[in-house]
Amino acid sequence: MSVNFIALAYLVAAVFFILSLKGLSSPTAARRGNLLGMLGMGIAVSTTLTITGNWVLILSCIAVGAIIGSIVAQRIQMTAMPELIAFMHSLVGLAAVFIAIAAVNNPVSFGLPEILPAGNKLELFLGTFIGAMTWSGSVIAFLKLSGRMSGAPITFSGQHMVNLLLAIVMVGFGLWFFFSETTNWTAFSTMTAIAFLLGFLIIIPIGGADMPVVISMLNSYSGWAAAGIGFSLGNPMLIIAGSLVGSSGAILSYIMCKAMNRPFLSVILGGFGSDGGSQGASDGAQKTYRSGSADDAAFLLGNSDSVIIIPGYGLAVARAQHAVKELALALHKKGINIRFAIHPVAGRMPGHMNVLLAEAEIPYEMVQEMEEINSDFPNTDVVLVLGANDVVNPAANIPGSPIYGMPILEAYKARTVMVVKRSMAAGYAGLDNDLFYMDKTMMVFGDAKKVVEDMVKAL
Ligand code: TAP
Repeated sequence: MSVNFIALAYLVAAVFFILSLKGLSSPTAARRGNLLGMLGMGIAVSTTLTITGNWVLILSCIAVGAIIGSIVAQRIQMTAMPELIAFMHSLVGLAAVFIAIAAVNNPVSFGLPEILPAGNKLELFLGTFIGAMTWSGSVIAFLKLSGRMSGAPITFSGQHMVNLLLAIVMVGFGLWFFFSETTNWTAFSTMTAIAFLLGFLIIIPIGGADMPVVISMLNSYSGWAAAGIGFSLGNPMLIIAGSLVGSSGAILSYIMCKAMNRPFLSVILGGFGSDGGSQGASDGAQKTYRSGSADDAAFLLGNSDSVIIIPGYGLAVARAQHAVKELALALHKKGINIRFAIHPVAGRMPGHMNVLLAEAEIPYEMVQEMEEINSDFPNTDVVLVLGANDVVNPAANIPGSPIYGMPILEAYKARTVMVVKRSMAAGYAGLDNDLFYMDKTMMVFGDAKKVVEDMVKAL
């Protein structure tokens, strides 16, 4: 295949990747986005195959990976998606390290000069240490998210200092590798080993609930690692795909931090929202709240003209999405204007609520984003808060509150509010929620799935 044709095929694949990212930015276009991404990847992989010799080996490896990937993807529960993503990132990081080791070991087979030039050494150094940190960081994220390791932050005194010292020593070995005239394996392998260790140490102090931001950050790292290796291999496709992953992951981390009104550094350095704990859950004052049964709630819902349902993390925990669909359809049949309001960081991963509602095939036209729906709350009869807490907490409007400035769904402006959760416990930010104590609010205690099923029966 001519060089020009390969460049053209890679360009077409890159355009598909960009269109794929565009499609993935809205639930209605997400399927198309996925398809375009797969098409782009198909073009990229087959073009790369034409310039490599060992077809049998490569196709066998692709087949093994594809079989394992399909089985895992089919079995995975929607709530376990973040940990699957963490696991996948760990593989991207490890692949970057292996490629770098192979290139340092035998540069000629990668089309590089036998004595690696400075530029290539730098790219390999960057690709290796980012890849190694991505691997070990992602493994910790996977263990924390899957419950195989406690989600609580693991801290020790002088932790940040130890990390800083290790980073300096790692860069020192990297420079030794860079300035050595021949291949300096001692420097390269020590640098790689420290990078693996740093990945563990940087992620262990971060609480389980902060993992989504970490995952999106690791996603970004894995992209940069791939781009770094792409430079060494002289493969423009890897550079483009790596940069797209790197920059979209970085933008996503930024958006998530902004939607939570938290500085990126405070997430990355750990210490907040350790495990959705209850610190600050009460300010000591005795406050009263009203509670009612699922039947009471169903009665109120059935007699309203407009209802907004706000899903949150508890909905995912209870796996109540199918029951909620039944409820929405039952209300819709009664001629009630029923909509779902989605907060950008409701749940524990970007798009968590959209994915759950889509899984239950809740019609997209019923689902609205925060900016679209916030002005409608004052004219809404009933707001049903299902397993959500922080995203409806009016404390976000109070200067000095830890969530001050975080945009919220303004449920407190509706005529009646009903909150379904198991107790008065705090949400992820560990804060009490004044919405629960308002005169217009009724708490309905219980598991979200059970309560919603009871509501449907009563309706
Ligand atoms: P949370 O504030 O975490 O509140 C969830 C509520 O669900 C809890 O108060 C809990 O109360 C209830 N719950 C748990 N299991 C339940 C069950 N089986 N049935 C009924 N209720 C149940 O959730 P949210 O409002 O969705 O807010 C998300 C939080 O996560 C925000 O603070 C956000 O900043 C943070 N966060 C989000 C992301 C992304 S990207 N989504 C990333 C990192 C952090 P009970 O225990 O009393 O039942």
